[in-house]
Amino acid sequence: MCGIVGAVAQRNITPILLEGLKRLEYRGYDSCGIALHIDGKLQRSRSTSRVAELEKQVESAHLAGFTGIAHTRWATHGAPASHNAHPHFSRERIALVHNGIIENHDELRAELKAAGYVFESQTDTEVIAHLIDHLYNGDLFDTVQLAVKRLTGAYAIAVFCRDEPHRVVGARQGSPLIVGVGQGENFLASDAMALAGTTDQIIYLEEGDVVDLQLQRCWIVDRTGKAAQREVRTVHAHTGAAELGPYRHYMQKEIFEQPRAIADTLEGVTCIMPELFGDDAFRVFQQIDSVLILACGTSYYAGLTAKYWIESVAKVPVNVEIASEYRYRDSVPNPNALVVTISQSGETADTLAALKHARALGMLHTLTICNVATSAMVRECALAYITRAGVEVGVASTKAFTTQLTALFLLTLALAQSKGRLSDQQEAAHLKAMRHLPAAVTAVLALEPQIIAWADDFARKENALFLGRGLHYPIALEGALKLKEISYIHAEAYPAGELKHGPLALVTEEMPVVTVAPNDALIEKLKSNMHEVRARGGQLYVFADADSRIAPSEGIHVIRLPEHYGLLSPILHTVPLQLLAYHTALARGTDVDKPRNLAKSVTVE
Ligand code: M6R
Repeated sequence: MCGIVGAVAQRNITPILLEGLKRLEYRGYDSCGIALHIDGKLQRSRSTSRVAELEKQVESAHLAGFTGIAHTRWATHGAPASHNAHPHFSRERIALVHNGIIENHDELRAELKAAGYVFESQTDTEVIAHLIDHLYNGDLFDTVQLAVKRLTGAYAIAVFCRDEPHRVVGARQGSPLIVGVGQGENFLASDAMALAGTTDQIIYLEEGDVVDLQLQRCWIVDRTGKAAQREVRTVHAHTGAAELGPYRHYMQKEIFEQPRAIADTLEGVTCIMPELFGDDAFRVFQQIDSVLILACGTSYYAGLTAKYWIESVAKVPVNVEIASEYRYRDSVPNPNALVVTISQSGETADTLAALKHARALGMLHTLTICNVATSAMVRECALAYITRAGVEVGVASTKAFTTQLTALFLLTLALAQSKGRLSDQQEAAHLKAMRHLPAAVTAVLALEPQIIAWADDFARKENALFLGRGLHYPIALEGALKLKEISYIHAEAYPAGELKHGPLALVTEEMPVVTVAPNDALIEKLKSNMHEVRARGGQLYVFADADSRIAPSEGIHVIRLPEHYGLLSPILHTVPLQLLAYHTALARGTDVDKPRNLAKSVTVE
């Protein structure tokens, strides 16, 4: 999703801005651009291709300057076209980049048109550039403070002015923006990762902040215009995308990194104790009487799995809500609930907003399961468990999901212990199973050649059904999401018992039906559901456990997972579904790591 980098320095900042954009590429974008203050003028270059292409354009135009801003855009208002790419200019005086969505852009556009402004793009961003120009009073910092008062919606902006050569002004509301503090130079970015290698001295701007960056000045005011002191933190941000090594795609690499990612997530866990989630966790866990999980996409499916675990092991009632729905619906708040957000990026706008909504309703016990220690989510929640998946580059979440599940199982055990529902023997048995997870996942990864053979069949289909039951229903949902996301095959998941209540009508010989079939208490029920499919000619592709007693026969294809893994079985059953989606997409020739229309980090509503 959109990314911002800005700088004011006494050296040519073009390489810093371009490097920052490259570090933000993993978030997904469809155009990019850079603007610099050069010889008393604004100059820019924009591209609907990759940042590498923009770099070539910048080199051939010899663009170099001391003050500038750059942006990767993920289209919301207006097509991914060069004229819609940021930075946007107003009257060759103001240059601006923006993340977020301005909700009152129509009304402002009408007003600015009436004042004589001509719009070159369909974006909501251009409205802000013209608004700042319209209000400009000779002091950009002052003007931006006036302008943001007119904006409704979410924004992080970086802006500079032709007439104030050594100044960049930033502002945020609803979208993240950070300041990088240097020696006689200062930077702005939407994410600390963009500045890795440039500075590790980071200020996280708070909602409503406006910042004035000059060579020797970093001055912040809050939404009321009062001077604000913000802590400068030393942040060792990841240095961006890792090398691909022997893999063809990041998604494939990340699938194969799962044993390491799970082991890292469990590193240092020698026993179950609430304090794994924060100093105050024991008191909070004892006090709470229910759990409310808020998340989106794959992280939501991790939450659905956790519901089964927490209710069956800790006996604590759990609600799981899609964040974008929860934030807008009337719900009944429970101040004794533990609000758990799950997020790979920690920057997902809907999840952050849902968290704030829950807090505004009086639910103050908050905990996050998150992969980015420096993210807004971690800063906003009282308690946290950081998964150690490492940087996930592929848009399709893989290792983030299995490490979320690992962390959520730890949370289940910690809650159970706090409620006196976990004996020492149970704790020891669960810990043993968790420690063996990396080896168990490695054994599942070895099934790849068999899955590749299936992927060829799938690549020719346009629809697929996924079935699971109980604890594995969320895994079927995740398998269907992976397939649709990267191969563009329409895929739906159902709890297998629901089949006869509607979706069975879709089953023909053309319909592949992927079945997640662990050898658990529901296996016989699941077999009956499979018969219902076969009786209508449907082709079953079954991921069974070694001892499931499901034999391959005509129309029933079976791949056996090496072992049944009890409560942790969802983690193992996720892996072949990831591989199936990956190899199907590969066979169809789609852009696996950057599927169309999607972004890695969804920082707008
Ligand atoms: O960063 P988050 O975990 O908050 O992201 C949530 C979803 O946007 C994300 O899981 C999305 O569904 C993935 N592309 C799925 O593979």
